[in-house]
Amino acid sequence: MPRPSARKRSEPLAAIVLAAGKGTRMKSSRAKVLHGICGRPLAYYPVRRALALGADPVVVVVGHQAEEVQAALGAALPEAPLRFAAQEQQLGTAHAVLSARKALRGFEGSVLICSGDTPLLTEETLASVVEARRKAKAGLAFATMTLENPTGYGRVVHSHDGKLALIVEEKDATPEERRIQEVNAGLYCADAAFLWKTLAKVGQKNAQGEFYLTDLVALAAEGPGAVAARVSPVEAAGVNDQEELSLAGRALTRRLAQRLMRGGVTLEDPERFLCDEGVEVGPDTVVETGVRLRGATRVGRGCVIGQGSVLTDTVVGDGVTIKPYCVTEQAEIRAGAVVGPFARLRPGADVGEEAHVGNFVELKKTRLGKGSKANHLTYLGDATIGAGVNVGCGTVTCNYDGEKKNPTVIGDGVFVGSDSILVAPIEIGERAYIAAGSTLTDDVPPGALALGRARQVNKEGWVDRLEASRRAPAKKRA
Ligand code: UD1
Ligand code: CA
Repeated sequence: MPRPSARKRSEPLAAIVLAAGKGTRMKSSRAKVLHGICGRPLAYYPVRRALALGADPVVVVVGHQAEEVQAALGAALPEAPLRFAAQEQQLGTAHAVLSARKALRGFEGSVLICSGDTPLLTEETLASVVEARRKAKAGLAFATMTLENPTGYGRVVHSHDGKLALIVEEKDATPEERRIQEVNAGLYCADAAFLWKTLAKVGQKNAQGEFYLTDLVALAAEGPGAVAARVSPVEAAGVNDQEELSLAGRALTRRLAQRLMRGGVTLEDPERFLCDEGVEVGPDTVVETGVRLRGATRVGRGCVIGQGSVLTDTVVGDGVTIKPYCVTEQAEIRAGAVVGPFARLRPGADVGEEAHVGNFVELKKTRLGKGSKANHLTYLGDATIGAGVNVGCGTVTCNYDGEKKNPTVIGDGVFVGSDSILVAPIEIGERAYIAAGSTLTDDVPPGALALGRARQVNKEGWVDRLEASRRAPAKKRA
């Protein structure tokens, strides 16, 4: 995985991502931020965007299923400057941010704060909040948005002189305040010194008895001030339940699809296309309906990815045709190859240039050389197959002896007759022929014909004799 591209920053920037909550409304045994969209856990997205903006370090506050969250993010962003801070008890968002203090000891500059459950935030939006604080020379910038239905969100209350603002949580709001449609989006940028000094003043005298991060806004008025930065409600939407999870997944997929189409990819039906973040597809490639591209999949130019195919961590060269309903994983398909329909490429499958892999063919840890063909009903495992080889229908490499996997080596230009069983370890020399229906247990020298089956016997007139014997009356016993 490449290190996420990070902008060079003139001003130091750190980020805190709050991901300690359980997410009760998900009605799931897994912590909310572990639920995935587009192939990544929810918490990955704000972390990734903060990194892209140049935040260093990014501190993730973990609590519920802390180890799993840490492992998932560590695996998704292996080389990123990530730190984890434990919040043992979830006493509120201010308390969560305070838990990150130790991890940021000595840091001076801007601290971006966002929630682990807002996967649609863009780098640009994060940047706009950082910029709003810098421009206003305020202690704090907080993102706000206007919602038709503000239920559940903290409301932004402006004072009459228009300067002072404070945030009132729904449960603490008066009926009048609840009618306010400008809400707190849950995204902030604070000066580090201001943040730690002011968090110490936050109490828990409110309807939920929690330490509210939102109290910073009113507290800032006594000092370096707070400024509101408008953001898009589409981006700042949080995921709180399964339905919102699916909506966020759809929105992110649509964004990824749009990026591909802008790059010259034809998507037959963008609404029935699934794609993980980070997947690349070259121009002039046609992606048919119902395709799913997962993980680190990279597809070249001028390819066709057939309907219903699922490609995971697969590298596809230029001009490849994948016919409908293929399933591939950790595989490579080189330029000009043709695969499918109904082919299965398992980890380590390497389909050479111009090679053909046809229907109901499975490859595992197998290299199929340039221009070679395995077109029907075949299993090739732990095999190294040269160029220009024809693998007949129903060929099986018997790679497993019950204890270990054994290799099969097939030289260039070999012809493997249909229904051949190759018991590994075995090596077939160049240009050899294997007679159809052979079971081979020994190596075949180059240029030889190998027959590994009983010689055929024809018994002439046999059927006539059989029928005659059936017609003859059974002898009566005395
Ligand atoms: C919060 C804001 C609200 C805002 C909304 C936007 C507060 C008090 N309220 O409300 O004004 O409109 O976000 O989405 O901040 N978390 C922890 N530890 C805790 C508590 C929360 O890590 O002790 C994490 C949660 O996992 C979550 C995030 O902080 O990722 C936000 O917490 P949540 O309880 O969802 O806050 P809201 O009620 O949505
Ligand atoms: Ca929330």
